Amino acid sequence: YALPLAFVIAAYLVGSLSFAVIVSRAMKMADPRSYGSGNPGATNVLRSGKKLAAVLTLLGDTLKAVVVVLAAKLANLPDHWLAAVAVAVTVGHMWPVFFRFLGGKGVATAAGVLLTLDWRLGLATVTVWLVMAAATRISSLAAIVAAVAAPIACHLLLPGRPALFGAVLLIAALLIQRHKRNLLNLLAGTEGKIGEKAKARE
Ligand code: G3P
Repeated sequence: YALPLAFVIAAYLVGSLSFAVIVSRAMKMADPRSYGSGNPGATNVLRSGKKLAAVLTLLGDTLKAVVVVLAAKLANLPDHWLAAVAVAVTVGHMWPVFFRFLGGKGVATAAGVLLTLDWRLGLATVTVWLVMAAATRISSLAAIVAAVAAPIACHLLLPGRPALFGAVLLIAALLIQRHKRNLLNLLAGTEGKIGEKAKARE
């Protein structure tokens, strides 16, 4: 168990690298947990008005998942361990050990996981996000709908791989749970659109 367990722990640690916080510090910007939704993620960093910072956050949070899941695949980990690695990198992003466990909602990281587990699954899910985002201009709504679609796509595209389905289902459930505040805002009709500038938080 030593090798696969090391992979899972490494996945959690790499997932804990919150690129919203890291990029903001490197670019001498305010901490993303201090403005807008308070979420350390690309959508909220965009509310600072700095597009480059948002793009770098999106890339970093996606690529960290690509790196760990790809490494696990190249090491030929069996599906149940691959599933554990996929969940661990997402959990690291949501509850990062390096940043007082104040992490993000997991959208970019989950996209990286899905694209690397199976590119068709990733592409299908990202397409749902893009179509919803284009139609509504609301990042959280696009993420929630994509999270509902992902397990369905996984079931259809990867039949007979129950461990991966379980991981995708768990990641989707965690992601939706992290969007609780967004769901309340959506119901109240107060959820902001992509790119709207943010106010500082109390
Ligand atoms: O990337 C997370 C997104 O779905 C919502 O972010 O900042 O609008 O809560 P935010």
